Amino acid sequence: MGASENASTSTETAMTTPNGIDAAMVETVGILGSGIMGSGLAEVFARSGRQVIMRSRTREGAEAVIAKVDKSLGRQVEKEKLSQSEREQIVAAITPTDSLADLAECDLVIESVVEDLEVKKELFRELDAIVKPGAILATNTSTLPVVELAMVTGRPESVVGIHFFNPAPMMKLVEVIHPITAADDTVKTALVVAESLGKDAVEVADRAGFIVNALLFPYLNNAVKMWEQGTASIDAIDSAMQGGCNFPMGPFALLDLVGLDTAVAILDALYEEFRDPNYAPATSLRRMVTAGHLGRKTGRGFRWY
Ligand SMILES: NC(=O)c1ccc[n+]([C@@H]2O[C@H](COP(=O)([O-])OP(=O)(O)OC[C@H]3O[C@@H](n4cnc5c(N)ncnc54)[C@H](O)[C@@H]3O)[C@@H](O)[C@H]2O)c1
Repeated sequence: MGASENASTSTETAMTTPNGIDAAMVETVGILGSGIMGSGLAEVFARSGRQVIMRSRTREGAEAVIAKVDKSLGRQVEKEKLSQSEREQIVAAITPTDSLADLAECDLVIESVVEDLEVKKELFRELDAIVKPGAILATNTSTLPVVELAMVTGRPESVVGIHFFNPAPMMKLVEVIHPITAADDTVKTALVVAESLGKDAVEVADRAGFIVNALLFPYLNNAVKMWEQGTASIDAIDSAMQGGCNFPMGPFALLDLVGLDTAVAILDALYEEFRDPNYAPATSLRRMVTAGHLGRKTGRGFRWY
């Protein structure tokens, strides 16, 4: 039985995990991965008054995240939503590192590296050996089975998914993924932590794509197939879905924002689990990934940036 049977939103206050961590005690958060989501997560957690250890494989990668966060906060200062001293305080709360050992004292670690199960499993094995007992190990995976990551650790009861949306500082939703191995209190703590960030948290069972991506990706994929069939141009499909459905952006703009490599990885994981042809990635998506046209992050996807 999965958490979908009792899926809920949570307004509960501090809960203690089996190993003694509660939401109020989550003061130091480790973030792994310096890509689009890693830098968003660093900003969100530092802004909530927590200490953040930002780990990338290179020191330069971790420092680049701090520069990105500083730039993002600079825009908030210009809009007078943040003071200059708050900006400096938030940036100072993020410590860059290229060493996993520096995550040892974290209360919560969120992995947000490339959407590749083997890479994530290896990281969870290493984290389990390094991070203090009782700390929560979480993944920001978009689709992969969280239970697979839990089972490579010696603390499956303390492993959950905490799935943020892009861009993390702006998007309200966080999906908290409840694998069958997680203790209820670990999940509750994750929900409370997400809410302490000003997010709306929903609990969802450990099924590929969770709620949002399971519903969103067939739509994005079918938009690409529609374009491949010559039904309409990229611009026409994007403006039709904006104007006709009141979506803030069309499917091609969204795919370029998500990253086409991540989109293919998500579709592959959905197809692997459900074998529904709507999830089989459109041919052009794979070709574009092979060519390195990954969307905004590489300057070229369905459009040029
Ligand atoms: N892009 C989105 O819209 C989005 C939204 C929610 C969740 N996610 C999830 O967040 C995670 C990261 O996605 P992203 O969009 O930030 O990707 P990205 O391509 O921007 O960044 C990926 C990061 O992983 C690192 N990386 C690559 N190979 C690695 C390895 N072998 N070991 C350690 N680190 C490695 C890269 O250096 C980079 O810092 C994925 O699990 C993705 O599914 C993405």
